[in-house]
Amino acid sequence: MASNMLVLFVSFSSLLLTSSAQTCNEHTFPNNKVFSNCTDLPQLSSFFHWTYEQATGKLDLAFRHAQIPLTNRWVAWAISPNTLGNLKNYMVGAQALVAIIDSNGATKAYTSSISNYRTVLEKGEISYPNTGLMATYKNNEVTIFATLTLPNHIGSIVHLWQDGPLSGPVPQVHSLDAPHINSKQFLHLV
Ligand SMILES: *[C@@H]1O[C@H](CO)[C@@H](O)[C@H](O)[C@H]1NC(C)=O
Repeated sequence: MASNMLVLFVSFSSLLLTSSAQTCNEHTFPNNKVFSNCTDLPQLSSFFHWTYEQATGKLDLAFRHAQIPLTNRWVAWAISPNTLGNLKNYMVGAQALVAIIDSNGATKAYTSSISNYRTVLEKGEISYPNTGLMATYKNNEVTIFATLTLPNHIGSIVHLWQDGPLSGPVPQVHSLDAPHINSKQFLHLV
């Protein structure tokens, strides 16, 4: 009896957690930037904030990845355009925003179109027009800001996010543990 009640209580509180108590709502951005929506991502201590205007496809976004205590890391957030509604084979084709955090904690950000599983996240154009791409690193948290223009008035995306080590300036393969291979999601923007 007691253990049944415990199970009930636990599932009820996790329902409450998913419906209302999103951690991302508490976050304030240093530049007083405000986004209309946010969601706590299920893997890698990460959060996604966005304002989306479906009529124009303009997606103003901030991706935050907390718990990055070491520098010499890369962090990336991407949309997988080839696989809408399909969470398999999501990585190849992904259009990524990449942040590099060097050994001094300095950041740079650039775009990368991922063409194969052996990518080192080479700098290159992505298929979405983008402006304002930048990355910050503070309190062990990496934030990537950008505004993308999405095609065809789409209302949802498959997005993925990741972190990994650097060798010199070059991104190396990410961990293949469960959090790192499950860090992807179907997201309704509207
Ligand atoms: C985004 O925020 C608005 C305003 O708070 C809300 O009405 C809407 O349901 C949110 N959309 C999503 C996809 O969370």
